[in-house]
Amino acid sequence: MLEPSADEIRAWGNSVIEFMADYFGDLRDCPVYRRISSREIRDHLDATLPIQGSNFDGLVKVFRETIIPFSRQNAHPRMFGYVQSSGTPLSAFADLLASTLNANLTVWRSAPAPVELERLTIDWIRQILGFNAEAGGLFVSGGSMANLAALAAARQDKGDSSGRLRIYASSETHFSIAKAAALLGIGRENVRHVAVDERFRIRTDDLVAQITADLEASYVPFCVVANAGTVNTGAVDPLAETRAIADRFQLWMHVDGSYGAFAILAKSARNLFAGIEQADSIALDPHKWLYLPVDVGCVIYREPQIACAAFAHEAEYTRVIAEEADEAFAFWDYGPELSRRFRALKVWMLLKGVGLDSLGAAIENNLACARHLESIVQVSDDFEMVAPVELSIFCFRHVPAQLKSQSPKAIDAFNERLLVALQRDGSSYLSNATLGGCFALRGCVLNYRTTLRDMEILLDDLRRVARSLLSGA
Ligand SMILES: Cc1ncc(COP(=O)(O)O)c(C=O)c1O
Repeated sequence: MLEPSADEIRAWGNSVIEFMADYFGDLRDCPVYRRISSREIRDHLDATLPIQGSNFDGLVKVFRETIIPFSRQNAHPRMFGYVQSSGTPLSAFADLLASTLNANLTVWRSAPAPVELERLTIDWIRQILGFNAEAGGLFVSGGSMANLAALAAARQDKGDSSGRLRIYASSETHFSIAKAAALLGIGRENVRHVAVDERFRIRTDDLVAQITADLEASYVPFCVVANAGTVNTGAVDPLAETRAIADRFQLWMHVDGSYGAFAILAKSARNLFAGIEQADSIALDPHKWLYLPVDVGCVIYREPQIACAAFAHEAEYTRVIAEEADEAFAFWDYGPELSRRFRALKVWMLLKGVGLDSLGAAIENNLACARHLESIVQVSDDFEMVAPVELSIFCFRHVPAQLKSQSPKAIDAFNERLLVALQRDGSSYLSNATLGGCFALRGCVLNYRTTLRDMEILLDDLRRVARSLLSGA
């Protein structure tokens, strides 16, 4: 098993590829999710310490018969929970090839061609966003790590050690910002939550008021985080206006575009992102709206040398000995990781293989699905929207006739039960959000397989599951 022959590699490959083709072919007819307990899964797994090895077919059998059926099918067209991308067959091949080479993208000399591919692909993303030619960055594990890296650069730029640093972000901002502040020693309490408007976008009057009050109290404002697609509702903060405020108070402007930023590729959403190219840094996740499998996040810095000042570390075992500046390049100077997977391969294969036109069309279709859901909810008499649709996230609730006269609390409780019952039913999958104190069913379309018809099926599924809940079945 450690060193299979060429024939064995072919046989293993063929059986796995057969399985993959069947899996993707049957996906739409499978449940998104099956109710299962941890105990049941463990009962299917042989827990004996494997002193002797076993054959490849036996390993794939466990994957096929236990892992697949007892997993949530994230590639299913009605998997609407969280911010979960579908993955693509192309990127599964890219991951296989990346692991075949097993490149470790630390410095140029460790992986010359993979490093060049990452730099090229990052530059394509820079161009998609419209950033300045000197901007640069790297792939990281995800949006949380990208936010952490960007805040480290922002802190470096301020160069203040008073312990009174403050970050500003709307109350809808993802928790990874507060977590990054905690890890960087800035402190969660120094992330100031700014109020939002009726569309859940940052209120710039409150932003200015909070910064001004903090300056008067001798705090050191240093960074504002603007959202390009909030996790709850997909709200995009007014980016150009936020930039102007950042300039006025000499703040670093970071954009968290982990969920939404790639929607800049869709014509109907592009205007929302005006000003994004003026940010000092941006976090975005190819493993969300480029449909790629985890893990691949991305951070781009307007002035990469500031990040270098935050991350570079001299040690004899990492000393780069080379003549050319390009070949002395080290990713560890720009982010927190040393050993790094060849994440760029799947991003490059996707961008080069699919092309921006088709990706833009797929994202446009996701936006259309969310808007379609909103329009059929608005004309229905048993569903209501809880937030406006901004990108591909939709927040709504079911209020069947029997519940119309009930208290808001009872309607929340019913929708909470409905969510759990829907997930167990398996035909469609949603998650939840709390908006203005109200429980919402929340969905996010991040799958190029999802159709307008799937949005109608989702409402039918909810009605069917609700009927059985109300009838006590
Ligand atoms: C707006 C936003 N920021 C950051 C993150 C964190 O990204 P990751 O899960 O890739 O760390 C998410 C995740 O959903 C998100 O929606």
